[in-house]
Amino acid sequence: MEILCRILLVFSLIVLVESCNSHDQELLSKAFSSISAFNISWVNPPRDSNCSNPPITSLDLSSRNLSGIISWKFLRNMSHLQTINLSNNSLQGSVPGWFWLIQSLTEVNLSNNQFGGSIGFEPLSRNGSSSSLKVLNLSTNRLTNSVKLSGFRNLVVLDLSHNDFNTLPSGFSNISKLEHLDISSCKISSNVKPISSLYSLKYLDLSNNSMNGTFPSDFPPLGSLKFLNVSSNRFTGFVGFDKYQKFGKSAFIHGGNFIFNSSKTPNISHHHPNITTHNKSPPHKFVQKHKPVTENNHRRKTKSKHVHNVLVLVLSSSFAFLFISTSICVFCIYRRKRTQRKKKWAISKPVQLPFKMDKSGPFSFETESGASWVADIKEPTSASVIMSSKPLMNLTFKDLIAATSHFGKESLLAEGRCGPLYRAVLPGDIHVAIKVLENARDVDHDEAVSMFEDLSRLQHPNLLPLSGYCIAGKEKLILYEFMANGDLNRWLHELPTGDPDVEDWSGDTWELQNGSHLSFTEKTNFLTRHRIAVGVARGLAYLHQMGSTHGHLVATNILLTDTMEPRISDFGLRNILDENVGPEFDVFCFGVLLMELLTGKQGTEERVKWVRRVVREGSGVDALDSRLTLGGDSVNEMVECLRVGYLCTAESSEKRPSMQQVLGLLKDVHR
Ligand SMILES: *[C@@H]1O[C@H](CO)[C@@H](O)[C@H](O)[C@H]1NC(C)=O
Ligand SMILES: *[C@@H]1O[C@H](CO)[C@@H](O)[C@H](O)[C@H]1NC(C)=O
Ligand SMILES: *[C@@H]1O[C@H](CO)[C@@H](O)[C@H](O)[C@H]1NC(C)=O
Ligand SMILES: *[C@@H]1O[C@H](CO)[C@@H](O)[C@H](O)[C@H]1NC(C)=O
Ligand SMILES: *[C@@H]1O[C@H](CO)[C@@H](O)[C@H](O)[C@H]1NC(C)=O
Ligand SMILES: *[C@@H]1O[C@H](CO)[C@@H](O)[C@H](O)[C@H]1NC(C)=O
Ligand SMILES: *[C@@H]1O[C@H](CO)[C@@H](O)[C@H](O)[C@H]1NC(C)=O
Ligand SMILES: *[C@@H]1O[C@H](CO)[C@@H](O)[C@H](O)[C@H]1NC(C)=O
Ligand SMILES: *[C@@H]1O[C@H](CO)[C@@H](O)[C@H](O)[C@H]1NC(C)=O
Ligand SMILES: *[C@@H]1O[C@H](CO)[C@@H](O)[C@H](O)[C@H]1NC(C)=O
Ligand SMILES: *[C@@H]1O[C@H](CO)[C@@H](O)[C@H](O)[C@H]1NC(C)=O
Ligand SMILES: *[C@@H]1O[C@H](CO)[C@@H](O)[C@H](O)[C@H]1NC(C)=O
Repeated sequence: MEILCRILLVFSLIVLVESCNSHDQELLSKAFSSISAFNISWVNPPRDSNCSNPPITSLDLSSRNLSGIISWKFLRNMSHLQTINLSNNSLQGSVPGWFWLIQSLTEVNLSNNQFGGSIGFEPLSRNGSSSSLKVLNLSTNRLTNSVKLSGFRNLVVLDLSHNDFNTLPSGFSNISKLEHLDISSCKISSNVKPISSLYSLKYLDLSNNSMNGTFPSDFPPLGSLKFLNVSSNRFTGFVGFDKYQKFGKSAFIHGGNFIFNSSKTPNISHHHPNITTHNKSPPHKFVQKHKPVTENNHRRKTKSKHVHNVLVLVLSSSFAFLFISTSICVFCIYRRKRTQRKKKWAISKPVQLPFKMDKSGPFSFETESGASWVADIKEPTSASVIMSSKPLMNLTFKDLIAATSHFGKESLLAEGRCGPLYRAVLPGDIHVAIKVLENARDVDHDEAVSMFEDLSRLQHPNLLPLSGYCIAGKEKLILYEFMANGDLNRWLHELPTGDPDVEDWSGDTWELQNGSHLSFTEKTNFLTRHRIAVGVARGLAYLHQMGSTHGHLVATNILLTDTMEPRISDFGLRNILDENVGPEFDVFCFGVLLMELLTGKQGTEERVKWVRRVVREGSGVDALDSRLTLGGDSVNEMVECLRVGYLCTAESSEKRPSMQQVLGLLKDVHR
């Protein structure tokens, strides 16, 4: 023990003497020996030390009119150096790779010099050799060669602006802690995609390059970004109103071929793809909303939002009413003609009535409500169906006509807010739902294609993926996988609750895929409804994380798989169809949906108000759906869920939680 202590004592003395008697001053003099105007007396060792030669931890030689080439090798043994600032001098030469591996170094500022060559080092292995640097500023130098970032795993701030890199640095996927990235004015012409892996980013400046890529899908999550500048580049894509408002007009000027959404006239200069954002002054509405928000203005805004909410509620409930009354009629007819079953949602092939196909277009179709749509093409095979999952299938508009009995009433599933929805079984036994986007007639061909491509890239188990699309003249048709269990509205409000054995219902119209009666038994189960809520929250959170919003989340837009997993449909279309709204509006709609799930009643405006009051008064239990099996802990969990719905429907949008938070809250209710 004594020996050990002695050894320790001697050792600590050695360490003390060594760190006290550092040769740092000497090393520094040697390192800067060929630098003109350098004076060692500028470097002041720390004063709070009893040593005569304490180690140097920080070196600030900025704006000293230094010029020449540093002898880097002498810095290698300065093992206590933490920050270096050589900014605003005329230093030349290149920085050796090992320099970045000095383990004490955390901040290096070489900005505003004439450094050249390449930056970085080849990490030897996954575990080994990683730089400790947190802050690196190389702005305004003469760096031309490659930058390898993979070894800079601890970087938080990186400024490479005003150099001549030509290509994007490599290794962005390894620097996941990065929060601040400036690579403006670097003559970079690469695709922006590699940057999309920077999930912690708060500040991103890509301005004044020639980069390409699609906004926002090739970009890092925009939700956490506080600053964005993509001006003067060659990007393409759609800029939603929320993005425009958040980052400002100047962030997008000359950024490429952007389309600003939220306008009611989506065809502004659509036919001039060369026109940049600058010339294409954004819709008037933007400018108005961009004004500083006075109190009056704010009130007006909340009011208009309120009106908007009410409108959506009214629309969705009237749609639901229509749906219910249609269903009742269908049901009555069904009861009368039991032999002649029409099961629109059932999985069997739809009846294909014989029809005569016109030899040449335009092709006109009429829906049940008397509305009509026209595919203005001569040859029905000239418009091809692009299937994202099966790119080799050579389908055309003609196959769609055939598979839907000339888009006949037999195939019509519903007439939604954006147009009629048909079902079809395509060659190869592919069951699809086909939606005609009536409001997208003015969107030109290329934009529509790029939007559909973007949409099909949004992939999540709780989002109904776009399986394909077809552009026939002005009409845009999109294809989804057919969900035989129908939508949440139908499951919640139209399917019978009772026992599957009860007389008439067995083997009835509502029989599901494989004859399963899943819905009957699980409908009264809180956990099923909770699972649906969590799934929808997960899908929405993903959508928001990808910089998109839904804009019209209602029960009819939630489709159910045969394992009762929810899939959100109709997302991403809002942008071209209608005014773009922020994620807070989705959160509100989700709150309404949650209330609907727990109360079993349509989410009308009055009901939402009532549920909010009941929850506020602490008697949320009174609002619960009586069909849910009440008992024990579940009641508390149900009331907890209602409370989440309460938070989501806060009148002021700033008070609503984010979808990510909502997801966390719901998962806390029941794991
Ligand atoms: C370095 O600076 C000190 C004081 O700032 C000055 O006395 C000395 O002459 C300078 N040395 C040279 C070589 O300029
Ligand atoms: C310097 O030495 C004095 C006495 O010799 C001691 O009290 C003080 O703590 C020392 N300071 C440092 C920073 O070591
Ligand atoms: C850069 O250094 C020059 C003197 O060499 C000085 O006049 C100028 O103010 C400095 N600029 C900055 C931004 O520090
Ligand atoms: C900077 O240094 C150069 C020589 O390297 C000298 O000609 C010039 O006068 C210096 N400028 C200042 C502001 O000291
Ligand atoms: C750095 O230190 C090592 C051993 O501590 C020594 O061998 C080497 O010469 C030193 N390098 C310089 C440039 O002083
Ligand atoms: C030099 O850089 C350090 C850290 O990078 C910073 O704290 C310091 O203010 C800088 N000096 C000047 C004059 O900008
Ligand atoms: C680097 O030096 C410049 C001044 O030359 C200063 O503006 C900046 O804050 C310094 N620090 C960093 C981290 O860039
Ligand atoms: C890097 O240094 C430049 C000055 O040379 C400064 O303008 C810039 O703000 C610095 N970057 C960061 C991230 O501090
Ligand atoms: C990585 O580190 C682990 C232990 O931390 C070690 O077992 C392994 O050999 C290392 N791999 C390499 C390639 O160095
Ligand atoms: C960088 O990330 C890639 C994959 O993202 C990985 O294959 C590679 O090993 C990483 N490199 C280092 C040095 O961590
Ligand atoms: C982006 O630009 C690079 C370099 O100019 C080019 O190779 C690439 O094909 C472009 N990508 C797209 C999607 O336009
Ligand atoms: C669009 O730009 C391309 C090259 O960038 C040019 O050839 C073409 O003439 C331009 N079209 C219009 C309508 O300006």
